[in-house]
Amino acid sequence: KIVILDFGSQTTQLIGRRVRELDTYCEILPYNKFPKGDANIKGVILSGSPFSVYDQDAFKINLDEIRGKYPILGICYGAQFIAYTNGGKVEPAGSREYGRAHLSSFDKSNVLFKDIKLGTQVWMSHGDTITSIPGNFKKIASTDEVAIAAYQIENEKIWGVQFHPEVYHTEEGTQLLKNFVVDICGCKQDWSPASFIESTVVELRQQLGDDKVVLALSGGVDSSVAAVLLNRAIGKNLTCIFVDHGMLRKNEARNVLRDYECLGLNVIGVDASAKFFKELAGVTDPERKRKIIGKGFIDVFDEEAHKIKNVKWLAQGTIYPDCIESLSITGTVIKSHHNVGGLPEKMNLKLCEPLRLLFKDEVRRVGRELGMPEHLITRHPFPGPGLAVRILGDITPEKVRVLQDADDIFIQGLRDWDLYDQVWQAGVVLLPVQSVGVMGDERTYERAVALRAVTSTDAMTADWAKLPYEFLGKISNEIINKVKGVNRVVYDISSKPPSTIEWE
Ligand code: XMP
Repeated sequence: KIVILDFGSQTTQLIGRRVRELDTYCEILPYNKFPKGDANIKGVILSGSPFSVYDQDAFKINLDEIRGKYPILGICYGAQFIAYTNGGKVEPAGSREYGRAHLSSFDKSNVLFKDIKLGTQVWMSHGDTITSIPGNFKKIASTDEVAIAAYQIENEKIWGVQFHPEVYHTEEGTQLLKNFVVDICGCKQDWSPASFIESTVVELRQQLGDDKVVLALSGGVDSSVAAVLLNRAIGKNLTCIFVDHGMLRKNEARNVLRDYECLGLNVIGVDASAKFFKELAGVTDPERKRKIIGKGFIDVFDEEAHKIKNVKWLAQGTIYPDCIESLSITGTVIKSHHNVGGLPEKMNLKLCEPLRLLFKDEVRRVGRELGMPEHLITRHPFPGPGLAVRILGDITPEKVRVLQDADDIFIQGLRDWDLYDQVWQAGVVLLPVQSVGVMGDERTYERAVALRAVTSTDAMTADWAKLPYEFLGKISNEIINKVKGVNRVVYDISSKPPSTIEWE
């Protein structure tokens, strides 16, 4: 495996994803947590950083602990750090060094540039640049603006690149990483969904033995894949619990329960909607709604789980991006996500997270390999508190019904028009406004809904989806004609940031 030491760059996770795309296992660890003595490490990548090597509180490591033991690739700050600590010079760069650049020369014989074309586009993003390197370093690439775009330490397996091979705009970045990971480090590219399933099933059987396990199914990809994987490993010792809090999409509970049964899962569906409607009555504050649903969910799940005798483990569909210890440099909570986060503490069970090392796209690949239906695998994300955060203001069963009907028309329309897979996430929001309309000869005074559809890769940033006008027109008509209580439809054209995906 490859270890990626994180110095706080925004693109560190991308390095991980690129390495995994090369069917090579990797782990992203905080810069100061190198796993000494792990015999499986074949190479180390040092990430970029928001810091300059001169900053007082810049993240630093003792390079000697890894030098000579593994091949090392420094990216941006990583490269500057290696050069600087060996006596090189790093200086503030001109503004020209942001963005697109082209490798105007490089050492063709250097294995790092194997199969890379001269003039290839690379992406620069740095405040500093390396202006001189020590005598035992050799320059191996330049761009028009940056003389030392890449170097290697002579007679050592240590490379540095000033640009970011992990980002999309570096055209041959994946080839460069492949040269490092495969040719230099000798990784075998043998990570595949099938091999993951095979080894995880063996590990789960060892870990769990004959113990009983419970898992909360949400209908989402992660918990579903985790359940099917565990089911393959331990079969009937796994009990899945699906809590319907009443804030789900139209017919959602019925549909997913049927899917789960078809997959052979041992699943208990609990309709707790009455409890949630009662507790949410009159509540308008979004964070209060989240807290009520989060806590209520845990209580219902806990009660159900206690009905099963001798449960020892709680399984969760946690995935890698949730686990990477983040070096948050400016952390502010915008919305309190992860509404099931309190589950393990309360239940006093051991935690089993079979997907904790996978990225989202890998979870999907594993799901396909396990034979799960495509509609479960390509499902849009849906917030844990569900429609509760898409009804602005207080929640009533009638409002939920209106929203479910409008949402169903929108989502079904996206599927019928083959637009569903082109958007990251979509839904309808019920607005706390009424407006005047006319239907037949009658004046109406009814609710307005907003359609929301966004494109994104990780929900951190998002853009509004450019859906065809014709489609939007059809959906608007259909909602107003069929959903009683709605007489106006608007389309949300805000991006994130500065807006967010959900309205609450
Ligand atoms: P925002 O609105 O912050 O949403 O742009 C980003 C992503 O997170 C989802 N989301 C939630 N998921 N519990 C969840 O499990 C929540 O309370 C919650 N709030 C937002 C949202 O749907 C989007 O995918």
